[in-house]
Amino acid sequence: MARIHPDVPTPKLEAMAGRFGVFDDAAREYVIERPDTPLPWLNYLGQDELFGLCTNTGGGYTFWRDARLRRLTRYRYNDVPLDSVGRYVYVNDGGTVWNPGWKPTKTPLDRYECRHGLGYTRILGAKDGIEAELCFFVPPGENVEIWRTTVRNSGAEAKDLSLFSYAEFCLYEALNDMTNYQRTYSIGEVEVERAGAAIFHTTEHRERREHVTLFGCTREVAGYDTSRDTFVGIDNGLHEAAVPLAGHAGCSIAHGWNPIGAHQVDLHLEPGAEETFAFVLAYVDEGGTPVGLELLDRYSEPASVDEAFARLGGFWDDLLSRFQVECPDRHVERMLDTWNQYQCLVTFNLSRSASLFETGIGRGMGFRDSNQDILGFVHLIPDQARQRILDLAATQLADGTCFHQYQPLTREGNTDIGGGFNDDPLWLVVSTCAYVKETGDTSILGEAVGYADAPDREADLLHHLERSLSYTQARRGPHGLPLIGHADWNDCLNLNCFSTEPNESFQTAGDVEGSVAESVMIAGLFLYAARELAGLYRHLGRTDDAERVERAREEMLEAVEAEAWDGDWYLRAFDAEGRPVGSHACDEGQIFVESQAWCVLGGAGADNGRARRALGSVSRRLATPDGIALVQPTYSRYRVELGEISSYPPGYKENGSVFCHTNPWITLAWCLLDDGANALDTYLAICPSAREERIETYRCEPYVYAQTIAGPDAATPGEAKNSWLTGTAAWAFVSGAQGLLGIVPDYDGLRIDPCIPGPWESFHVTRRFRGTVYEIEVRNPDGVGHGVSSLAVDGRTVEGNLLPLEADAGPVAVGVVLGSPRSAAPIRRVAGRRDPTRPATVGSDDVEGRPRSAGAAVGAVGEPPSVG
Ligand code: GLC
Ligand code: GLC
Repeated sequence: MARIHPDVPTPKLEAMAGRFGVFDDAAREYVIERPDTPLPWLNYLGQDELFGLCTNTGGGYTFWRDARLRRLTRYRYNDVPLDSVGRYVYVNDGGTVWNPGWKPTKTPLDRYECRHGLGYTRILGAKDGIEAELCFFVPPGENVEIWRTTVRNSGAEAKDLSLFSYAEFCLYEALNDMTNYQRTYSIGEVEVERAGAAIFHTTEHRERREHVTLFGCTREVAGYDTSRDTFVGIDNGLHEAAVPLAGHAGCSIAHGWNPIGAHQVDLHLEPGAEETFAFVLAYVDEGGTPVGLELLDRYSEPASVDEAFARLGGFWDDLLSRFQVECPDRHVERMLDTWNQYQCLVTFNLSRSASLFETGIGRGMGFRDSNQDILGFVHLIPDQARQRILDLAATQLADGTCFHQYQPLTREGNTDIGGGFNDDPLWLVVSTCAYVKETGDTSILGEAVGYADAPDREADLLHHLERSLSYTQARRGPHGLPLIGHADWNDCLNLNCFSTEPNESFQTAGDVEGSVAESVMIAGLFLYAARELAGLYRHLGRTDDAERVERAREEMLEAVEAEAWDGDWYLRAFDAEGRPVGSHACDEGQIFVESQAWCVLGGAGADNGRARRALGSVSRRLATPDGIALVQPTYSRYRVELGEISSYPPGYKENGSVFCHTNPWITLAWCLLDDGANALDTYLAICPSAREERIETYRCEPYVYAQTIAGPDAATPGEAKNSWLTGTAAWAFVSGAQGLLGIVPDYDGLRIDPCIPGPWESFHVTRRFRGTVYEIEVRNPDGVGHGVSSLAVDGRTVEGNLLPLEADAGPVAVGVVLGSPRSAAPIRRVAGRRDPTRPATVGSDDVEGRPRSAGAAVGAVGEPPSVG
């Protein structure tokens, strides 16, 4: 295989599994070998503030911090064909015009290869003896997107070529940019310096902001363009852009209409000769064009570009070294080592805002989503997780409800969607406890963070956690179960919406005040969150508080067992009339996955056999070769009392697709029941790497999880949609790393609690935890697959399954032998029985004043103590 960069060794590729590409595990790249993938296959550039979406043909766009408010380049969503604008470089070789990434000209190439790596994409195209490689990346800590460009003459004759770059500027506010042409066609401005090598997009930089976007070229240019009409031609598409076809730039200056950046670079290449330079797309928040020129100068030498690229590699080496596994299953290995952690970083950064399925305009950061994203991210960059938790807490209201979404740039709650999604507050408890377990940093609990509607009111984070639990506890229905509000985790289970008006949103329609619709899923989540908070209190030495929260949990558990068991599984909900949802007595929608998962994870059914029965029902009724469906039987008609779920055709999205986010919960639930075989099967069913064999059906990227796979009742079962930005990423990582492999962060150390299939003889995990590297070798000599029967730390025998914290950072050798009944891991700890004489309340609902301090008596209304 011809390679442009001899420094990158040619990997030994395993036999091509799918028709479109192959994993290069050693290089941590997915190699796409033909450009016409079943859907555009996406990657992300950037890790701090500047982000780019980049498909396997170079499509996509770039934004700074906020995909809506600071969009730098333009994208046309749902274009025909899909994905028809992006980072394009045209080659004009003696009148033949082609693109290394195939699009937009789609001129047939002699060779094409796209390597999606961690934070970069390399696209190589070759034609008529010319090889052109584009490597797109954003160096860590910078607001610069580099397009390293290498052109090589591998033919026998000297060549004179012209290259034309293309970046279409977005006028920053993406919604305005695509809706308000009476204004936007008149405001576009540019400045051109250095004979066109430095093009600045300066729209609106004179009034209320100082920013500019640079699109520069580090090499001398032969011309430039900034007017789309000149470069493309008024009646042309990008595939037949006028300037590349003509072979010379128009040196146009845009006044209004559609400003773009384009450079012409002329190259003379002798046989065997190669040239490397870069195009640079940068956002300058302050300082204007002089700062932009400095940035361009910084990357004028190819060596400085290579150094920046190496820095990106080092950034990822360091992050991924925190968790690495060698185990008998290559899908588990490849996902946990590389792609799943990578996806976790992207979902942490972007929530659900900008992908090929989310336009970056509507959603901002989701409260429940971002809290869950932290679970898969916190071991990578704990400080960022810390800040995110505090930002999220600041969008909680004083009564405990939360803004469902907020805009990352302003950190303001989105008032259109508001609050009233009654699972939201509980996720804050889950993420905070995960953070403290990973880092040991309890100081976060005492951080002062106000409420969105009472920002000046000083409360600490612990007060927010109490408020989250008390919110749920104070809002319960006739069965003693939590009220659902607009929806719980399942956004489409809208039991209070009763919408007959097509022009309104299911999520916000309907009055949730005074309704009695209850959610069993929230009840299960409450069991889980309460156990987490109680565990945190015990860690803090606050036994009274721990017991108070445990009593509240116990009371909820009694309600769940008394009211929510359907005979073979847990009900999903009670509707606004108090009728069961997700019962064998229903004509459709008899069993849902969410309540089985969360009741079991919350500890319900542990003592009475129901947990096992519920999971057995999941296997019988919901499991498919493509994963576990969300609900069965699916809804065949719209049901006004259930809302959006019944609006989807059967088998799609919430109406009974394999909604992947829920599947790792079941993996974890199997682990609780010591069933490693079922846990692994569940894990693999949605694993994208394992889907590669059916890629033409699956269609989405085989290296990242998708949100949904069409279910058995769909017309297209097995077809995935909505890849990349999904809570599946974080939960899949937790289910693999903590469930199957059992490397579980805990307050006082790492807990070792694997649950693997019997045939696995051993596995090895490298885990960096609180500054110490643990080399953990787990053996499974008797094929039991769980239960630590012996544990040795640097040769010393340790009782139990907790690795004590080590003072020094030198690698610690841990030997684990499995095979005895499992010792009690925290997730299995069931709170003590409730003392009926003591009130079981959490938190308080007062919104006045600072919560009483730790020493204060815990009264019937359960004042939340502060840590601060
Ligand atoms: C989407 C939403 C998430 C929700 C899920 C199920 O993934 O982002 O918040 O829980 O759908 O409806
Ligand atoms: C979730 C669901 C989707 C629904 C949306 C509403 O993302 O997956 O089906 O339309 O929420 O915000």
